[in-house]
Amino acid sequence: MKTPRIVVMAGSRRANALSRPVARACAQALEAAGAEVDPIELADYPAPLYDGDLEAAHGLPECIVRLQHKLHASDGLLLVNPEYNGSITPLMKNTLDWCSRPNPADPARSGGAVYAGRAAAVVGSSPGALGGMRALFHVRDILGYLGMQVIPQQVAVAKAGEAVGEDGYLRDPAQQAMLDKLAAALVDTARRLRA
Ligand SMILES: Cc1cc2nc3c(=O)[nH]c(=O)nc-3n(C[C@H](O)[C@H](O)[C@H](O)COP(=O)(O)O)c2cc1C
Repeated sequence: MKTPRIVVMAGSRRANALSRPVARACAQALEAAGAEVDPIELADYPAPLYDGDLEAAHGLPECIVRLQHKLHASDGLLLVNPEYNGSITPLMKNTLDWCSRPNPADPARSGGAVYAGRAAAVVGSSPGALGGMRALFHVRDILGYLGMQVIPQQVAVAKAGEAVGEDGYLRDPAQQAMLDKLAAALVDTARRLRA
């Protein structure tokens, strides 16, 4: 099979997001595991808050159509999740929700078709001690609902501001090893599902 293409996306778009270096570490691990990575910066996809009236009047935002095409062209998805009150960030949920909407002009590359049957993995990122662990259960549920095969491996990166070294790897070798295993499992699952 061709090299699996994995989209990596973090649930924050602020300039100094702690989840950004964590997402880069994930991308690095996936490349080492044999994936082609498509890193998504959600600041480049500035969708409004989902509103059915907005959708009825204007259809899908252009940035969401672009993102749907990227997801559709991928074999898997790795989400890096900052934790807001024990759950997913509104930015990530809003993005997943918009992308789940059908585009009547392009039904094959929109709606459920951009998720279903693809592999997914979840990573947490937090300045706190639990690494956003609680959000991951919710994110798993959502991705499962969308028809994705979420692998059991997960990594919760605590004290995210200090967790990533200058070389882009996680400073804690044990946690980097967990990330490498997650990356290998995601690449393997993506390969099997899309063979
Ligand atoms: C509304 C809100 C709720 C938060 N809730 C949590 C939480 O439940 N657990 C946690 O570890 N951090 C929580 N935080 C702190 C975030 O983890 C922290 O702001 C983090 O830096 C956000 O991710 P980012 O740096 O990638 O933007 C919360 C922050 C905000 C703004």
